[in-house]
Amino acid sequence: MAKKQPTISVIGTGFVGLTTAVLLAEAGYQVYAIDIDEERLAAIKQGRAFFYEAGINPLLKHVIENKRLIPTSSYVNCISQSDFIFSCVGTPDNPDGSSNLSYIFAAAKEALVHMKTGAVYIQKSTVPVGTGEKIEQLFNKSKKRIDYISNPEFLREGTAIEDTLNFDRVVIGSENGKSVDEVISLYKTIEKNRQAIAKRAKLKLPAGHKGEYFKTGRNSAELIKVTANAFLALKISFANSIAKLADKTGADINEIMDVVGADRRIGRAFLNAGRGYGGGCFPKDVSGLISSAADHNVDLQIMTAVSDINFTMPGYIAKKAQAELESLTGKRVAVLGLAFKAGTSDARRSPGVMLANILKRQGASVITYDPAANHEAENELRIGIDVAQTIEEAVNKTDAIFITTEWPVFLRYDLKKLAKQMKGNLFVDAMNVFNKAAVQKAGLQYIGVGR
Ligand code: UDX
Repeated sequence: MAKKQPTISVIGTGFVGLTTAVLLAEAGYQVYAIDIDEERLAAIKQGRAFFYEAGINPLLKHVIENKRLIPTSSYVNCISQSDFIFSCVGTPDNPDGSSNLSYIFAAAKEALVHMKTGAVYIQKSTVPVGTGEKIEQLFNKSKKRIDYISNPEFLREGTAIEDTLNFDRVVIGSENGKSVDEVISLYKTIEKNRQAIAKRAKLKLPAGHKGEYFKTGRNSAELIKVTANAFLALKISFANSIAKLADKTGADINEIMDVVGADRRIGRAFLNAGRGYGGGCFPKDVSGLISSAADHNVDLQIMTAVSDINFTMPGYIAKKAQAELESLTGKRVAVLGLAFKAGTSDARRSPGVMLANILKRQGASVITYDPAANHEAENELRIGIDVAQTIEEAVNKTDAIFITTEWPVFLRYDLKKLAKQMKGNLFVDAMNVFNKAAVQKAGLQYIGVGR
């Protein structure tokens, strides 16, 4: 007799949860997606993610229509039938920088009520090291036999589907080694179907794929995730520190990092200087790591420096512009880019928003625009900052413009047209993504970060 296909529940339908649920359903499993947010569920039921993510909607529509994915707000029926339960709930940060684990424990406790013995509970949320151990202790107190797996997620927002189909590594952390191969087989089924899924998502994947599966201890898996993000944040703050020195000495940070990054031991990725990192992961993961290290009496000074340097960048850029404009008071400036990076509508901890707020505080009249994040940024912007509906509206009669997100529509914008639309001519490339000579040729004054 053929082995029964496992049933899966995914708790939480954010970037990580919804991507996981959709891909498992596309791979042929019966999947329940659980969320308490009725608005999110209503969108999912119509085949629409409530956030912008390349390729997710066609997949979502497909698995909703063929009923492989069933969205629900109740744990009751789905968890009890499930062989695998993925926890993908949020871990926001507390005001002191530590991770707020209330959703993590609430989900684990509620799931425990309904889980059948023999079920596997897989933690994908980013949690401080030691969290899994506490959840295992909780599970061990019940009479049920539940296996706990730490399976951290590495996907990036905006490219979540592509990152998962084209993964570098899948980490499966466990203390007893049980269920590890079963969890790996779920991922292998997705991997086997990757080209067909990519085709439906209208994404192009490279033909070959060399993703690796790592089996580790539970605590190592928890630390792998935050260490990877912390190291990427460290590279960015390192590049930004050198950029400040390049500014003082007439060197160009892009030239520097192109050559430094050509050393295979170092690598070019995440050495782009600019307005610093933002989003739902790096700021929170860095502060969470500092705080979790402090709980174990380890002073992670290096990460405190990373966070401090990052925090200075929007102000540093405002100051550079101010030096050119003499004063910001009364100047009309446009900030183009409110999303924390291109390809997403997410404006959490967005450096563009921070820069707009600093410019406003310093007396400028600020107008902003983003092709996807206008709505999500609105509540984060200081009172009196205008939000434009088009680039043209934003840049019209400005003294200066600031590019804070690398959206293709900004990169492709006709610079000569821009020069005519502006009143002044200061062009601040806060992402270092423009060709300096081309900007100058259009009659604009170029300022980058470390260039
Ligand atoms: C990150 C990790 O890359 C991912 O592996 C993890 O699972 C979640 O956190 P994400 O936050 O989606 O992903 O975005 P990412 O593309 O890593 O960018 C983070 C921030 O760093 C953005 O604000 C980006 O603009 C900035 N950045 C990135 C730089 O300032 N310089 C760089 O060189 C690279």
